[in-house]
Amino acid sequence: MLANKTIVLIISGGIAAYKSLDLIRRLRERRARVRAIMTRGAQQFITPLAVGALTADKVYTELFDREAEQDVGHIRLARACDLVLVAPATADLMAKMAHGIADDLATAVLLATDKPVLLAPAMNPKMWENPATRRNTEALRGDGKKFAGPKSGEMAERGESGVGRMAEPLEIADAATDLLLHRRPPTPDTAKPLAGRRIVITSGPTHEPIDPVRYIANRSSGKQGHAIAAAAAAAGARVTLVSGPVAQPDPAGVKVIHVETAKEMLQAVKNALPADVAIMAAAVADWGVASEGDQKIKKDGSGHPPALDLVENPDILATIGHNDTLRPMLLIGFAAETQNLIENARSKLARKRADWIVANDVSHEFGVMGGDRNTVRIVDAGTVEDWPSLNKVDVAKRLVDKIATFFSGTAVDMPEAEEQ
Ligand code: C5P
Repeated sequence: MLANKTIVLIISGGIAAYKSLDLIRRLRERRARVRAIMTRGAQQFITPLAVGALTADKVYTELFDREAEQDVGHIRLARACDLVLVAPATADLMAKMAHGIADDLATAVLLATDKPVLLAPAMNPKMWENPATRRNTEALRGDGKKFAGPKSGEMAERGESGVGRMAEPLEIADAATDLLLHRRPPTPDTAKPLAGRRIVITSGPTHEPIDPVRYIANRSSGKQGHAIAAAAAAAGARVTLVSGPVAQPDPAGVKVIHVETAKEMLQAVKNALPADVAIMAAAVADWGVASEGDQKIKKDGSGHPPALDLVENPDILATIGHNDTLRPMLLIGFAAETQNLIENARSKLARKRADWIVANDVSHEFGVMGGDRNTVRIVDAGTVEDWPSLNKVDVAKRLVDKIATFFSGTAVDMPEAEEQ
């Protein structure tokens, strides 16, 4: 696919540098020639020997290296290629690029090149959010540099998560391929009301394993969440649906991530963010089993059933609601109540920091869970909207219309080629 293409890969100094080794493999699988430049920092994480073994080419490390200058020279290195790819791109390297600093081989090549430049940033979320990095990113975008990622997720630093994780090697290789082959991402249909919006939706139940053959589940069918995903995609949004185990087919035009447990669902939601909207329609199990046995629990003949030790699961809606980095502009939760519907929905709104709660009274309408119809009330901080009893597909369409109205008049940040 990339035969005859040469990529100069600049590896700067971050822990994500280990992923660059896989990136080299991915690029070479596509027949690209990869010439690697490593900064001093990069060499603290991976060795030029490993990089050279994978590129099967010389690895460039020094600006004032007589041998390398005689060989190609940094100006030729910068020009005799089809793409300059920086992965990982650290906050420091991006700052230098934004200011035209050229104090080592990597930055000199970046300043001298006249070829497209693709960056895969990787840094701690606080560094990514820092106003200085925001300014530098904007400046680089303004200069025509392209970006792949960063993504949200767990960081190398224990317990830290947020936006800053380097995109996966395959995603970076895809973005590089698109740029090299001048492939345009599918252009969002701007006539559609949610064109360019990203929406993350959870749907279905979760299964909490007890032992290899048993689990705790609930009656959620996923019909409502899947219908919302389909309606949002039809309205032009880019939808990621995180689905528990359901019998529903994957909706057309939707990226579906299949999970089983509440913990897996939380992780998948974090990975799918940031987004403009998150809709938490899943019936997440409130409790999981403390320690899942790796053997099937057997009757011991004593006549006493075994005790199940339960632990509270993470509340996905509340976790996202209270996370200022991950929280989308519009966060929507569901509430199935049997009494004090509005009161309970309002307290859920506050406790989980949601913007709207789609509340339904499950005491009168038997069979909401698993059924085809739903009677809901939309509760926000100040108002309550009563909707008539509707088919779940029509509830989904009406909810999507309401979301489109919420965003009407707000500018859409149209996704760029590299983010596909
Ligand atoms: O507290 P309750 O379970 O009634 O809250 C329902 C809302 O919270 C739904 O939007 C549901 O998807 C979400 N939720 C969650 N994680 C949990 C429990 C509920 O995201 N562990």
